[in-house]
Amino acid sequence: VTPSKEPDPAVLPAYGCQRRTPLAHHNAMLTEALETLARDAAFGGDETRSLAFTRAASALKALPWRLGSLRDLAALPGIGKHCRRVIQEVLEDGSSAEVEAVRRSEQYRTMQLFTGIFGVGTRTAASWYQEGLRTLADLRAAGPRLSRQQQAGLQYWEDLATPVTLAEAEAIRELVQAEARRILPDATVTLVGGFRRGKPTGHDVDLLLSHPEEGREQALLGPLVASLEQQGLLLYQQRQPNTFGQEPSSSSMDQFERCFAIARLALPGAGDPSARRATRVDLVVAPRSQFAFALLGWTGSRHFERELRRFAGRQRGLALSSHGLYDPQRVRTRGGTLWGGWGAPYAGTRAALAPFCC
Ligand code: CTP
Ligand code: MN
Ligand code: MN
Ligand code: MN
Repeated sequence: VTPSKEPDPAVLPAYGCQRRTPLAHHNAMLTEALETLARDAAFGGDETRSLAFTRAASALKALPWRLGSLRDLAALPGIGKHCRRVIQEVLEDGSSAEVEAVRRSEQYRTMQLFTGIFGVGTRTAASWYQEGLRTLADLRAAGPRLSRQQQAGLQYWEDLATPVTLAEAEAIRELVQAEARRILPDATVTLVGGFRRGKPTGHDVDLLLSHPEEGREQALLGPLVASLEQQGLLLYQQRQPNTFGQEPSSSSMDQFERCFAIARLALPGAGDPSARRATRVDLVVAPRSQFAFALLGWTGSRHFERELRRFAGRQRGLALSSHGLYDPQRVRTRGGTLWGGWGAPYAGTRAALAPFCC
């Protein structure tokens, strides 16, 4: 009897956060095809369709072998008809006509280019595409309508499009920590984002700042950014205050104090000490009481975080954000108001927001 290759459905649980999803997996051809369609759907504003493709890709990344036939899909949760068709095409022909057409399309290529610019989101990119803009030169000619952030994104585009290495990220972390500790001796600076997930390169450096003593972290970011700027290490910076406990914004982003910056750094190994390159750096400040949740929330991936929050809500009746894990009932009875969005905490007083558990 030939052992059945039919996988046990229990191998792959329904939520992405319940599965081991290694960076190097066995189905890259399929996941790249599906992720292209996910990006294309998002470019078109269809988040629901985009999520369906992302979910299918996520499940395939967790499959501990190379998918050989459509039959094996029985083990994977949530693969819809459209995804099956794409997977079948790739399995049979080595590529999908639909995916190849998307990759070649002027709209997809332009959207990839525009959304890759610091400060440019899907809606902005789409409106530029509608206006007939196609290249960076087109955008440069349209200069006056660009925000300060977008201008910086365009100005340093070439450097920012070059992947950041782990060695560079660690060097930046150390530099920022040394500076932070000059201001507050016990300040902590943790490398988060893709690098914390073990990625060898990234598009930016995400740093989570904190201090062992609750409240002291509030005195950190202002002086830190000022000092880095004074040393000529920043090409751009945009600070946002902490808004936790205030009326929530419409965005699903967390409400920590933060700074989106472009740093100007010496190139390791470059002979000329003035050789520097622009690197995107995100600085986020979390108080000690919220540090664990901020660390979890800022480690990503985006899909993992989304799934973790969905799991918390549906399977445990709890609300998870980068600020804490809450029992919605308890928060409600204490006068808080529940509001939507994945990154959403609860509005209300700080006192009502004590994390339910850690
Ligand atoms: N994040 C967030 N709110 C934001 C931006 C980011 O909560 N406004 C979190 C997300 O969970 C995300 C992580 O911070 O996964 C890092 O974001 P980002 O730098 O965009 O992605 P990475 O996964 O680090 O990928 P890359 O290596 O390309 O930078
Ligand atoms: Mn990152
Ligand atoms: Mn990424
Ligand atoms: Mn980032």
